Amino acid sequence: MDLFPTSDSPAKRVPELHQLLNHHNHLYYTQAEPEISDSDYDKLYRELEDLEKSNPDLLDPNSPTQRVGSVPNTAFTQVTHPVPMLSIDDVFELKDSDTPEAELIAFYKRLQKNLGRENIDVTLEPKIDGVAVTLFYENGSLKYAATRGDGTIGDDVTQNVRTIRNIPLTFTGDAPAILEVRGEIFMPNSAFATMNEERDEQGLPTFANPRNATAGTLKQLDSRIVATRPLAFLAHGLGAYDGPDLEAETDFHELLDRVSIPKNHPVRTAHNLEELLEGIKLYSTERHDLDHATDGVVIKVLDRNERETLGATARAPRWAAAFKFLPEQQETTLNAISIQVGRTGVLTPVAELTPVLISGSTVSRATLHNQDEITKKGIYIGAKVLVEKAGEIIPAIVKTIDPDPDAKTYSLFDAVEGKCPSCQAPITQEEGFVAWRCTNFECPAQAVTAITHFAARKALDIDSMGESVAEALVRHGHATSPLDLFSLTEETLANLNLGTEESPRRFGEKNAAKVISSLEAARSKPLNKWLFAMGIRHLGESAAKELARLHQTLTEIPTSPILAELVKDTRATAKKQNEFLVQYAITGDVGPSVAESILTFFQSEAGQHIISRFSELGLDPKSENYAPKPTDAPVLTFTGKTFVITGTLSESRDHFKAIIEQNGGKVSGSISKKTNYLLAGEAAGSKLDKAKSLGVTILDEPALAALLDEESPS
Ligand code: IVH
Repeated sequence: MDLFPTSDSPAKRVPELHQLLNHHNHLYYTQAEPEISDSDYDKLYRELEDLEKSNPDLLDPNSPTQRVGSVPNTAFTQVTHPVPMLSIDDVFELKDSDTPEAELIAFYKRLQKNLGRENIDVTLEPKIDGVAVTLFYENGSLKYAATRGDGTIGDDVTQNVRTIRNIPLTFTGDAPAILEVRGEIFMPNSAFATMNEERDEQGLPTFANPRNATAGTLKQLDSRIVATRPLAFLAHGLGAYDGPDLEAETDFHELLDRVSIPKNHPVRTAHNLEELLEGIKLYSTERHDLDHATDGVVIKVLDRNERETLGATARAPRWAAAFKFLPEQQETTLNAISIQVGRTGVLTPVAELTPVLISGSTVSRATLHNQDEITKKGIYIGAKVLVEKAGEIIPAIVKTIDPDPDAKTYSLFDAVEGKCPSCQAPITQEEGFVAWRCTNFECPAQAVTAITHFAARKALDIDSMGESVAEALVRHGHATSPLDLFSLTEETLANLNLGTEESPRRFGEKNAAKVISSLEAARSKPLNKWLFAMGIRHLGESAAKELARLHQTLTEIPTSPILAELVKDTRATAKKQNEFLVQYAITGDVGPSVAESILTFFQSEAGQHIISRFSELGLDPKSENYAPKPTDAPVLTFTGKTFVITGTLSESRDHFKAIIEQNGGKVSGSISKKTNYLLAGEAAGSKLDKAKSLGVTILDEPALAALLDEESPS
């Protein structure tokens, strides 16, 4: 096939370009063996784009040009699975047992009994820790892609799935009339790490782990965003099928290869129980070489007829099981405890360990959280400890082993002699809190986190100012507090070295310009954003808004009679206090402790210094919602209603928070008897349980929309 012919008619050339681009796409993304240069690929791509533009009737939704995403959905439509998407029964690796595989052996014995034979061929493959999807192809063209949902009905996520480069949108040759492939979408570990670094540098929130990132991405209604995230797919099963007979699992695997659908690997076959147990052992080490998270091994009966004989329960097939690995644990020695000082001044003890290899990576540090944890686990320096990687990500200390009865449990306060290890200011432990905290608002150890918080989207939204940039600014002595950002020149920023001396990495002109222009924009951001950005203790977003309602400018706040009254009022009679609250219509967001925290902040030396810096910089942020005595505030749909948001939703939580607030409601972080509604997305956990137990009304997105619809006057 000629790469660049000129004479063909568009109707002939377009399908030819599809085939060429698909072929090279597969070589690049699945085989990692490209045969043409990027620029040749781009030329073909542009040729197709041009032809599609001038011949709109030739534009296919499965064209290779459609992988960049398209107009956002308003909601996902539902798909009924032609064959239910079952789950798999877990069999667990047992701890402290002579036969950790006891449950697995029991599974194999059940197979033997049900099939009436000794040796049953089974396949083994990694259990991918991703999000299950199904791909439905009709005559070699992707018709839809859907999530598992409840197993019977899932969400149509076709637009999002089209952007995943290793999923073929079409295939040629002898395609089965219907081929439905089940598998997992995931984010490769390496791509996840890079993406998080980039997000951090852009000042965007980072994801906790690859699975969360994947689930959150697939929920996006805008597929153009999905197209920018490094998702990948691996197939592991068959759904609906109409084509030549597939007798064994291997026939299915050959079919996947023929149509270029990437399949899960490595797959092994075991012919008896012994081989099965050996195979499991191999995966327990091999899985760490894979570039994606796995949490076990899936075992399936090889023969498709035998699978039918075995059948399924309502929940899961009897011919498959998922062997789940225990989080790997290792013994090591705790040599020292270092103390980290966080943004709010909390002192976190971190164990320094003799390095050990756990789940494929070296662990030399583990968080000890706080003094309570240390006391509970009887931690002392020199102790032998058991370490595990919880959720395969964050190392944690499980317990001390054979503790020395004479050893003295570590005391954080004694170790630092009651002083912040960074600035030597006294540390305090507030009543009811386990954390020790530095009392100095200008403690340099808090600079990086303070700057990061200041620049975050919810605060002053400074472009490209993530943790690593803040860290470099502090490390090179360009900033010790957030307001120092306003004295930076574009040149200093452009030349900022984010790397090391050996391998420098410049921040660059483009990023520098972005920072400078968003700092300029920050000058006119409203008072509430500024107050939140300052990172004053107890001053969250809602309290900042409430403060801005009660004050016109920042300069009013340090001498605010309202705040003074609020602090005083804790000691006043309940009646007087109540009158005062009613007079200013003060909500629960600003109480005595917030008021006290703010006044203490501005009265401190550091706070005074900040006030004079504000005036030097010509800054005096203004309130955009000043209304100290709201009279006849309009009653909106959610006025007086408190919401809690949990689980994975189709948009960010902030998006829903904004909707609720626009309609007069409030959003709180935790469920109590006072909560009116829980907006629950997918994979909601303990909050959902708690809401149920308290009888709180639970809403999903459509129910929220319905409430607004029903009650809005229009
Ligand atoms: S086979 C009838 N193979 O794990 C179900 N599933 O916990 C057959 N999963 O819903 C599924 N890796 O989404 C299979 N190699 C693998 C898998 C795998 C991950 C997921 C799958 C399933 C869930 C059950």
